[in-house]
Amino acid sequence: MKIAILSDIHEGVNRKKSGANILGLLKEWMIQHAPDVFIISGDITAGPEKSLTLLTKLQSELSNINILYVHGNHDLYHSDSTIAYEKLLEFGGNLGNGPVQLNKDWVVIGDGGWYDYTFGIDGYTAEQFSVGSYNGFTWPDKVHAHWQKGDEAVTDRYLKQLENWLAEHQDKNIILVTHFVPFTHFVQVKEDPSWDFFNAMMGSAGLGELAEKYGVKKLVFGHIHTRYHEDYKGIDCICNPLGYFPHEWSSDSAQEEIKSTIKVIEI
Ligand SMILES: [Fe+2]
Ligand SMILES: [Fe+2]
Repeated sequence: MKIAILSDIHEGVNRKKSGANILGLLKEWMIQHAPDVFIISGDITAGPEKSLTLLTKLQSELSNINILYVHGNHDLYHSDSTIAYEKLLEFGGNLGNGPVQLNKDWVVIGDGGWYDYTFGIDGYTAEQFSVGSYNGFTWPDKVHAHWQKGDEAVTDRYLKQLENWLAEHQDKNIILVTHFVPFTHFVQVKEDPSWDFFNAMMGSAGLGELAEKYGVKKLVFGHIHTRYHEDYKGIDCICNPLGYFPHEWSSDSAQEEIKSTIKVIEI
């Protein structure tokens, strides 16, 4: 079984900046390579309605490919992010609806997740991270995402849900999918507080702890726009973002960037 993996497509921004038909190019790649499953690990675009429209369109045009998705932070940009979360569950392949069994051995479990400042640097309080401003820059989620509860409580809800699902599927090989980063190992520390302060918003150590505790085989995530594929703590860890044109791309051509970035794994 062939599984294609990509995150952080940021369709709106990349389409406007590069002038390319990002969705059309993705569709073209999928038709050509015909994976059985396509995992999109968050940040397909900004806002739940637009994200849902793109996912629905892509799935209807690629009926032979099982598209599995978790939301990113950008997908939840809305005056009420709980409503945004629920809106995105209308997409059948949203892993927030529950685990998806691929065959008799493998199951995919996931949800977007959130962050709880466990990757935050020393010297700052949870209150400062929750305000999310440093040196005149405010973390965009603080402006565009709106939860009823604080970040830590929001993250806790995800961790509890994921733990239930993981516990229920211990007889299977598990692929865990999140948007947010599960291990501090993948978070870049630049010894510059104007960067490192925002590492608090990169993910949650709780995600990695669950992956270890429940022996997941593969861990797919996104959010951090740096590509990784390595064995870490005995887990096949894959972070495979498209990222932003032009500064995060290695090619000027969207077609070339998509082609060289999409990762295919076999199970
Ligand atoms: Fe992103
Ligand atoms: Fe993100």
